[in-house]
Amino acid sequence: MKASNLFEPVDLGPLRLANRWVVAPMTRVSATIDGQATPRMARYYADFAAGGFGLVITEGIYTDRAYSQGYLFQPGLAADAQRDAWRPVVAGVHAAGGRIVAQLMHAGAISQGNAHRAVAKGPSAVQLAGVQMSFYRGEGPYRMPEAMTLAEITAAIDGFAAAALRAREAGFDGVELHGANGYLLDQFLTEHTNRREDGYGGALVQRLRLGVEVITAVREAVGAGFPVGYRVSQGKVNDFGHKWRGAEADAALVFRALSAAPIDYLHTTEFEAWQPAFGEGPSLAALARRYGSVPVIANGSLHDPARAAGMVARGEADLIALGRGALSNADWPRRVRDGLPLEEFDRALLSPLADLANADRRRARTARA
Ligand SMILES: Cc1cc2nc3c(=O)[nH]c(=O)nc-3n(C[C@H](O)[C@H](O)[C@H](O)COP(=O)(O)O)c2cc1C
Repeated sequence: MKASNLFEPVDLGPLRLANRWVVAPMTRVSATIDGQATPRMARYYADFAAGGFGLVITEGIYTDRAYSQGYLFQPGLAADAQRDAWRPVVAGVHAAGGRIVAQLMHAGAISQGNAHRAVAKGPSAVQLAGVQMSFYRGEGPYRMPEAMTLAEITAAIDGFAAAALRAREAGFDGVELHGANGYLLDQFLTEHTNRREDGYGGALVQRLRLGVEVITAVREAVGAGFPVGYRVSQGKVNDFGHKWRGAEADAALVFRALSAAPIDYLHTTEFEAWQPAFGEGPSLAALARRYGSVPVIANGSLHDPARAAGMVARGEADLIALGRGALSNADWPRRVRDGLPLEEFDRALLSPLADLANADRRRARTARA
């Protein structure tokens, strides 16, 4: 069997997983306009569990009815009706033998579609790089965001905590806090989007403060026995090449502080997860493992099973998350285990919209052809 070490069980804090294959979080803008999960989403998520993934991480779920929503048709955990709509999704994954973690996401300044608010808010009123994503129904440059007040920061923290509690009530096996990819928590971490002069801006430890406070509040809401993870990246959806200025010193501080907050796992994502994080030396996942004290999920172009298994064998990661590969092969782990061929990623699954209806139409067309 190829990559046999990825078929060994692993624990994320109190959560035992059957293997080390993880579905990466992927926004599919396929909820109702009210942010409720649908039967189509339940089928989509259950397929990954049936296909052998030990853990499924959901798409980024918005946390409050203020500034957190990033995309129209994004699902939420900001209301009890949204929580209840997740129950069949969770039950479907469990019935197929898998585990499912809810990714909690606040879009902050890069929100491009919010049913609850007409303006976007982030750490500072700074025009963001990049353009809105058309496959999530966006167009043109990002709106100029407004700087959050201290009361709005407190409300955002409370939103994460309340959403985490709803996730636990819906039956999820844990939550992952989206601290990566240029969304709110990463906007606070990043010098050029965080120009604040209060206790949430300035030195790295202060820019990390919001992330740590969100972990603390979530932990208090859900209790010690419920897994809490944290996703970290350098690159951003609107700024792929961003690198931490302090290199390994920054990584040491970030991973130590997040682990101690405390969390149950770190999830790092880079374009190519095995590459040195800073030109030379260890990858970001390996640095998370070195300076953090919790298991590490590595993500980013890990579609060669031998390479994925190598990262785990060398102690650079504990689990491997796949994004695009899982979209074209919901049964990726089974195929690897049985030595079956893997489908190439088909980008038409995400075009013109990255939603499930579009992907289902594409699959039906390909099956007929
Ligand atoms: C359609 C799509 C949606 C995504 N949405 C999210 C998201 O909601 N949250 C997140 O943390 N990452 C998101 N990502 C990033 C993936 O989790 C992953 O980091 C990226 O696809 C690289 O991994 P891969 O090389 O295995 O595809 C998304 C990626 C894709 C392709």
